Amino acid sequence: MVRIVGIETSCDETAVGIVEDGRSILSNAVSSSLALHGPYGGVIPAIAARAHVETIWDVFAAALEEARRSPAELDAIAVTRGPGLPGALLIGLAFAKGLALALDRPLVPVDHLAAHLYAAQMAVPTLEPPYVGLVVSGGHTLLCVAHDDCRFELLGETKDDAVGEAFDKVAKLLGLGYPGGPAIDRISDEGDGTRVRLPRGQTKRPFDFSFSGLKTAVYQYVQKAAQLQALSSRVLQPAACSLQPDTSTLEHQDIADIADIAAGFQEAAVDILITKTLRACHRTGIKRVAVGGGVASNRRLRARFGEAGAANKLDVIFPPPPLCVDNGAMVAGIGYPLLQKGRVASLSITSDSNLCLN
Ligand code: KG4
Ligand code: ZN
Repeated sequence: MVRIVGIETSCDETAVGIVEDGRSILSNAVSSSLALHGPYGGVIPAIAARAHVETIWDVFAAALEEARRSPAELDAIAVTRGPGLPGALLIGLAFAKGLALALDRPLVPVDHLAAHLYAAQMAVPTLEPPYVGLVVSGGHTLLCVAHDDCRFELLGETKDDAVGEAFDKVAKLLGLGYPGGPAIDRISDEGDGTRVRLPRGQTKRPFDFSFSGLKTAVYQYVQKAAQLQALSSRVLQPAACSLQPDTSTLEHQDIADIADIAAGFQEAAVDILITKTLRACHRTGIKRVAVGGGVASNRRLRARFGEAGAANKLDVIFPPPPLCVDNGAMVAGIGYPLLQKGRVASLSITSDSNLCLN
């Protein structure tokens, strides 16, 4: 049995997981600096890096305690090498190198996007490559074919915003706070996703994505609605047209409108993701799909993919939500096949913030 610790610091989560044989999760500890970024409406790289430095030792200790293991019982150290925020990545990598040196264990560098997809294999062990992979996170949106655990063929990616970024920006526009994805997921329950019809982002290449047009359409809709409201009440309300309306001053009727807009946006984003993924399955003839990344925890996306999978006789696998968002277990998990293939690194390896499925 091979027991691997996985260290993840690519964005605002400091996460450490311990996994046996790439499947069995002994622990998955995480500390998020999310609350520190909230007032800025997005992740501030320097704040994220500082939080990693402050918490990484405690998170590592918590992972050991939850797993009831000592450092000497770890067989290898897996760590996210990229993509991500450069300063944040360096902290996890430096910590992992220290562990590898102190424990005399191999260091296994991991691609964060591959780890997001591997999380689906951890959740459903019968899911084996080849499969179509859809990564939907705050920094990335891409479609690929996984030929094996660590070999991917990129089919297409976003040409502008990542889908998670679009969720976050639209939520900010609607005054729903940060992070926006979970907020839109929740408020959409109260909205009608058919009332506000938004564009489905056309791209030149069949497997690429575009979300900036959708985001702009929401902005224009909000502006227009605010102008109409101002006209009907014969009072000019410039604040309502601004990018960040203050929902605390809105009446019940306005809240319902925000729910409809959020639901309309979510419906459009989900349509785009499902259409391209089905197209990839038809084109490749592959009947299995793995979805990974923070947006994979979106309930509407999961439900609609469930329906689309059944209608098209596809197996669509989502990890459970704690394995969708950034976590250490997925890094420890994919560390196992990488270690078996001998993909270990020397202590002079550096991070790569632009890594993409390597
Ligand atoms: O994978 P992740 O944790 O970090 C990156 O690698 O980027 O993804 C974070 C993204 C954020 O944009 C967040 O708003 C989004 O995932 N997200 C969601 C949900 N939960 C997190 N988006 C939609 N619905 C959700 N329930
Ligand atoms: Zn991620």
